[in-house]
Amino acid sequence: MNILLVGSGGREHALAWKIAQSPRITKLYIAPGNPGTAQCGTNIDIKVNDFNALGKFARENSVNIIVVGPEDPLANGIADYFAADAELQHIAIAGPSQRGAMLESSKDFAKDFMMKHKIPTARYATFSRDGREQGFDFLAKLQAPYVLKADGLAAGKGVIITESLDEARTALCEMLDGKFGEASSKVVIEEYLTGIEVSVFVLTDGQAYKLLPEAKDYKRIGEGDSGLNTGGMGAVSPVPFADATFMDKVCKRIVEPTLAGLKQENIQYKGFIFFGLMNCAGEPYVIEYNVRMGDPETEAVMARLDADLPDLFEGVAQENLHERRCGTLPHTAVTLVSVSGGYPGDYQKGKGIEIAPSSDDSTLIFHAGTRLDADGKLVTSGGRVFAVTATGNSIEQARTKAYKALDRITFEGKYYRRDIGNDLTEL
Ligand code: AMP
Ligand code: GLY
Repeated sequence: MNILLVGSGGREHALAWKIAQSPRITKLYIAPGNPGTAQCGTNIDIKVNDFNALGKFARENSVNIIVVGPEDPLANGIADYFAADAELQHIAIAGPSQRGAMLESSKDFAKDFMMKHKIPTARYATFSRDGREQGFDFLAKLQAPYVLKADGLAAGKGVIITESLDEARTALCEMLDGKFGEASSKVVIEEYLTGIEVSVFVLTDGQAYKLLPEAKDYKRIGEGDSGLNTGGMGAVSPVPFADATFMDKVCKRIVEPTLAGLKQENIQYKGFIFFGLMNCAGEPYVIEYNVRMGDPETEAVMARLDADLPDLFEGVAQENLHERRCGTLPHTAVTLVSVSGGYPGDYQKGKGIEIAPSSDDSTLIFHAGTRLDADGKLVTSGGRVFAVTATGNSIEQARTKAYKALDRITFEGKYYRRDIGNDLTEL
């Protein structure tokens, strides 16, 4: 089987690492990939939204399945593009149609979908440019803190949470006036949910689904969950509170109604669904849907996935996923992300990277924002530079190993959080 994986971050390195282990893989291509994915397959220099070039490459290289890492090409309709072309139709896409991708690309669409299908989520209302007075009235009826979300994709930055009603009103005006461009031409205002977050992942062929290991993500830049939101500074899997009782509620109240809703609305959906959930006193609520795997959650989840990933993708393509085996390894995985100094604000790129050798080859070093410079030397090229994953019998054990591995990586300005997993060990 030949797979073309689209994307270039830590998530894609982790997916490539897992895919490459399968005896069923003949060729793995990654577009555009990074120096890490180059260790797992062949990087090809095509951008993730260049559907023409991806189609041409896939046809000429007998690609069977395209696995889409990030949301952007999905929101731009990569699955529809392939489905509409007679010469590309035979190539399966592990990723939803453009309409399916709206679960992530439009918060208003996602909230409306959840209401229609009775999926637990925070109460909300959506306001557009001519509705700010109604927005003020709605805010006045809510209790602090106030949650405002840009409707469209805003690179994870489109959510504002504030304690002050005045700030919430100002934020609403700024958003409607274009703070996040077209993405905030509509704003969802919702009730604040109190609890602990957990990321739940499934892979579906449109009928059946496989539940993948869950994970907890650490979104804020600072220790103790302080400071600005980032793409994610670390992940832990499993999540102790996501026990059988909780996960049963998640499947029955959230995963299954979501899949049934997609079918009922005739929305083509094959691929990953990422449920961003809040555990509110033992009851799961959906905070957001994503139509892809999480980053850095994937780097922890892949270390626990007991399955042949290409076999699962083939099950998605052939719509017989229920016949494929998908298990979870019992060990704990901890992922730590090292970032460029200044991230998520401005930061410098092009800093030389050294990775000290080690006799412990059980720790995984996933490249996120790295590249090779003109001399072939590894340098930083993004905010999140590496994700390091270690496994162990407990969070403490895995974490100790992961921090040791992170110490082997040096680059100027390197920053990471030292408290990943602390909250879970203190529970
Ligand atoms: P989102 O992009 O929708 O995942 O929101 C970003 C982050 O804001 C989430 O991961 C939560 O930490 C927080 N958040 C979003 N919606 C709510 C809510 N209704 N109540 C509490 N926190 C929220
Ligand atoms: N780690 C959160 C995300 O991938 O959106």
